[in-house]
Amino acid sequence: MENTNTGSLALDPLSREWARKYEFAGIWESNLDDAFSDLAPYYDFASNLASLGLCGRWREQFISSIALRPGYKVLDVCAGTNAVGMGLLRRQPDLDVCAIDRSKAMQGVGQGRARARGLKIESVIGDANHLPFPDGHFDVVTLQWATRHLRVVDAFSEIRRVLKPGGCFYHCDMLRPESRVVQTLYSTYLKACLPVTGLAFGSGPETWSLRDYFVRCVEMFYSAPEITELLRHIGFSGVSSRAEVGGIVARHKAVKA
Ligand SMILES: C[S@@+](CC[C@H](N)C(=O)[O-])C[C@H]1O[C@@H](n2cnc3c(N)ncnc32)[C@H](O)[C@@H]1O
Repeated sequence: MENTNTGSLALDPLSREWARKYEFAGIWESNLDDAFSDLAPYYDFASNLASLGLCGRWREQFISSIALRPGYKVLDVCAGTNAVGMGLLRRQPDLDVCAIDRSKAMQGVGQGRARARGLKIESVIGDANHLPFPDGHFDVVTLQWATRHLRVVDAFSEIRRVLKPGGCFYHCDMLRPESRVVQTLYSTYLKACLPVTGLAFGSGPETWSLRDYFVRCVEMFYSAPEITELLRHIGFSGVSSRAEVGGIVARHKAVKA
């Protein structure tokens, strides 16, 4: 698919995936965990502040969009501080929720928050690009605010593998807007707001050193139609999406036939 609205980059999705790996593989392997260890204690508050409260609103919309039944096995990938898992359990207490994240620090905060609310979420420390679960194990898989840090084709293929036939994948993330004007405004906002948030919360050097990465990984990321195309390419069916605010955020639902 030719994309002519991408500013510095006009790439089809699979070439973009290669370019993302080429540019970010070193950071994903060596630096990201340290940054999330630093961010963990103030991640929830900072992300809501940096998004002017929209992050929490989008999360609630995402959680409400997920079809749940008692007894469902749910996997929240890149669960961070367990906001999605806790929201799902508040809606339907009879769920079997498992959280996977690579960061012990983010999951430490998340497990503390779940326990304090009397909610049970199993925690697995592991890599979303190689999920340590058997084939066809989950009814629902969720992934929010994290895909830009992943090898998307690998992670989405793994998610499809661990879903039961008929199971649903729900995705929500900050995406690359298709409009060049929206993209420029968005990058300008991110470049301005990350240092302000960093100063306000006393970010450590692990996070400061990645402030260009946190902007660049969105600039290099997929647009909402490209995520749809990738999900279909991987073999999902019934892919639907809903974009917000000029495509800077979108929710996708995809079914494993
Ligand atoms: C921005 S946080 C999002 C957390 C949560 N999903 C939310 O909605 O608030 C990104 C999370 O992705 C995790 N992460 C990044 N790369 C990962 C990987 N390869 N495998 C597992 N987790 C990863 C980070 O540790 C971090 O907790």
